[in-house]
Amino acid sequence: MSVAAIILAAGKGTRMRSARAKVLHEIAGEPMIARVIRSVRALAPDPLVVVVGHQAAEVEAAVAASDATSSCRFALQEPQRGTGDSARCGLSEIAPTFNGEVLITYGDMPSISPATLRDFVESHRQSGAKLSFISIRLADPAAYGRVIRDSAGRVISIREARDASPAERAIGEINTGVYLVEASLLRSALANLKPNNAQKEYYLTDIVADAVSRGEKVAAWIAHDPAEFAGINSREELASMEKQTRETINRKLMDAGVTLIDPATAYISEQAAIAPDCVIGPNVQILGKCKIGAGVKMDGTAWLSNVTVGARSHLKLGVRAEDCTIGEDCDIGPFAHLRAGTELLGHNRIGNFVETKKARLGHGSKASHLSYLGDATIGDDTNVGCGVITVNYDGYEKHHTTIGDRCMVGCDTQLVAPVKVGDDVYVASGTTILREVPNGALAMSHHPQREKLGWVANWRRRHNDTRAVNGEHQAEIKSK
Ligand code: UD1
Ligand code: CA
Repeated sequence: MSVAAIILAAGKGTRMRSARAKVLHEIAGEPMIARVIRSVRALAPDPLVVVVGHQAAEVEAAVAASDATSSCRFALQEPQRGTGDSARCGLSEIAPTFNGEVLITYGDMPSISPATLRDFVESHRQSGAKLSFISIRLADPAAYGRVIRDSAGRVISIREARDASPAERAIGEINTGVYLVEASLLRSALANLKPNNAQKEYYLTDIVADAVSRGEKVAAWIAHDPAEFAGINSREELASMEKQTRETINRKLMDAGVTLIDPATAYISEQAAIAPDCVIGPNVQILGKCKIGAGVKMDGTAWLSNVTVGARSHLKLGVRAEDCTIGEDCDIGPFAHLRAGTELLGHNRIGNFVETKKARLGHGSKASHLSYLGDATIGDDTNVGCGVITVNYDGYEKHHTTIGDRCMVGCDTQLVAPVKVGDDVYVASGTTILREVPNGALAMSHHPQREKLGWVANWRRRHNDTRAVNGEHQAEIKSK
């Protein structure tokens, strides 16, 4: 049986008090819509339709960015006239000939797990129902839609709290908003919706009573873990889900053999893969699709996004790295900035106040202090001295610097790109490299050093500074 999916995400989310659409707010470093899509993908739906409305373009862009490997379809709901109207918009993106099952869920319910969705689909198929939805029992059913059953316990409808009688409002079983419906039934039930309710909206919930009135079998699948169905409606709910989500992620990592020195300040994305025996210090953010090899140590205060770190590497205090690869046995920081396209092949050392961008360092090469290496290819076993700078930008374009194997690039060297330095080259400190240096050469561009003897004493006298200069007398004699 084939499954299509519709994710309702057109609402504004008024209570967020935000200029941004609600589904773009992030949980564990990801827009909540991206998390929902990942869970729904577990059912391999075809198509997967996202109904957008409020900030449609931004939501579409966020979905595209998070789901690059496979594509979603988008349906525009404008204006937003209720969940039923939204589902109808979504259905318009599903071929009229599609005769499988349609899953419907919300973009603002980001904790629903793939396993729960699979169990739900399985139970729907076994029950023989044409329409199933997920319900939960709550001690405080608040404003949720109540599940109304007949005396035999069969579901007959869902009643919104606003439209419910006091007796109905006392019911603790509520609708989570996740449905699985046979396509043909969904088409006709949605076509029948009328906005006859307190909010004058098209309620998706009304498809339940409609299906029952047609004599179709309807099932409510009672889920055990209400936390999975928590929706986000406010900043407070966002923060509380953020905390719960992080705790869940961190617990899984610790169970898998990762040490988190202070789990309360470990901010790790669900998509991160962290090998056993890593030690993650306090205040570390590991975002996106990071891959951290076995035995990596992070001392603390690091921000990593889409970074691969090889086994046994050591990230000292204050590393920021993005879209880059750090090989095995590297030593990074303290206070290092590895920008996009940095590639360290292994056994590298990047020390304090070094910035790299689109820089490839071969095995064992080092830049230990105060450097900028941008648009550079550096060979194996080369030492980049303190304060070396690749001069890569002419105001219009970026240019490439190539440095060979086993070089010693002296302190305070500038390499004016495009430029190439061969293998086994020594560059004297303070050199400005302007043209290609052949293999094995020493390159230097020193100004000859001069001394003006006695100069300091004169200078001080002119400023009425009475301090003596050590050895002044001798210097004056020599200068005569
Ligand atoms: C809905 C259900 C309620 C259920 C609750 C669970 C209805 C009528 N009620 O209520 O039974 O207990 O969810 O959370 O369905 N949306 C659109 N377009 C619209 C309106 C909403 O796309 O015109 C989207 C929203 O972006 C959101 C989702 O649908 O993701 C749910 O909408 P919301 O207004 O939060 O529904 P509730 O009133 O909470
Ligand atoms: Ca809601």
